[in-house]
Amino acid sequence: MMRLAVILVGLAFATGMASADDATARGEALFRPCAACHMIGEGAVHRLGPHLNGVSGRTIGTAEGFRYSASLSEAGAEGRVWDDVALDSFLAAPRNYLPGTSMAFRGIRDAEDRAILIAYMIETGGAEAPQGEVAVDPRIAAVLDHPPDEAYGAFLSSECTACHSGGGEGIPRIAGLAPQSFAAGLLAYRDGTREHQVMNMLAARLGDEEIAALAAYFATLE
Ligand code: HEC
Ligand code: HEC
Repeated sequence: MMRLAVILVGLAFATGMASADDATARGEALFRPCAACHMIGEGAVHRLGPHLNGVSGRTIGTAEGFRYSASLSEAGAEGRVWDDVALDSFLAAPRNYLPGTSMAFRGIRDAEDRAILIAYMIETGGAEAPQGEVAVDPRIAAVLDHPPDEAYGAFLSSECTACHSGGGEGIPRIAGLAPQSFAAGLLAYRDGTREHQVMNMLAARLGDEEIAALAAYFATLE
């Protein structure tokens, strides 16, 4: 359970959660709306949606015996895999990430909620990838390899706080996000897997070094 431990420790660190048990309880609560359509854990079978055992690390749309939409089948045929970034982007906005999906779910706005839910799915349903490997998506790891220059991040953040510290409607809280989630969010906007005009435009101008600095700075905020 190396990988889960890494994620949970990161989350507990970022959010001040008391323990991994808290994260599990929150994960369980976050999974409740999913349970209308999905089963996970021992004895899980397909319902309206496929069972989600081992979904992390698995090729998209390949649980045996489930009939997927053309959208998911095609993504799988291209060899796309449910890594952390793919799961995060899909759960943020299913129909943006895989247009044509038959999953009728609007998405989860809060990046921290998504990270907790993904960790919960791995804890409860296991991961397809060998335990201990793929701790971090390689693209995120490459970004977070840059020095965590908080001062540079603080400087760059002047462009962000106008929206993100106001708490306006539809604007997610990014203060205190785990660097991994923060970087995953910006990478998804930069490569267009997550669509939002302003965020796509801003992210397109950020290099890996800038994203690492911003991630480090926002992680220090309450
Ligand atoms: C209204 C029913 C419904 C709800 C609610 C729902 N899903 Fe789904 N989900 C589906 C269906 C149907 C599919 C198959 C989609 C397709 O083939 O396009 C799916 C597919 C998926 C997949 C891809 C599985 C694979 O084998 O490739 C994941 C991951 C997933 N859902 C996670 C979730 C999570 C997590 C939640 C809760 C936050 C959730 N879903 C909520 C119906 C639902
Ligand atoms: C004009 C307002 C605005 C500005 C300026 C802005 N953002 Fe955003 N940001 C948003 C909105 C709105 C969303 C949610 C969009 C969506 O629905 O995907 C968002 C989403 C995000 C997310 C994803 C969070 C999550 O919970 O999913 C991150 C990370 C982020 N912004 C970082 C930044 C950074 C870093 C900057 C500065 C370089 C910035 N934003 C500047 C409005 C803004």
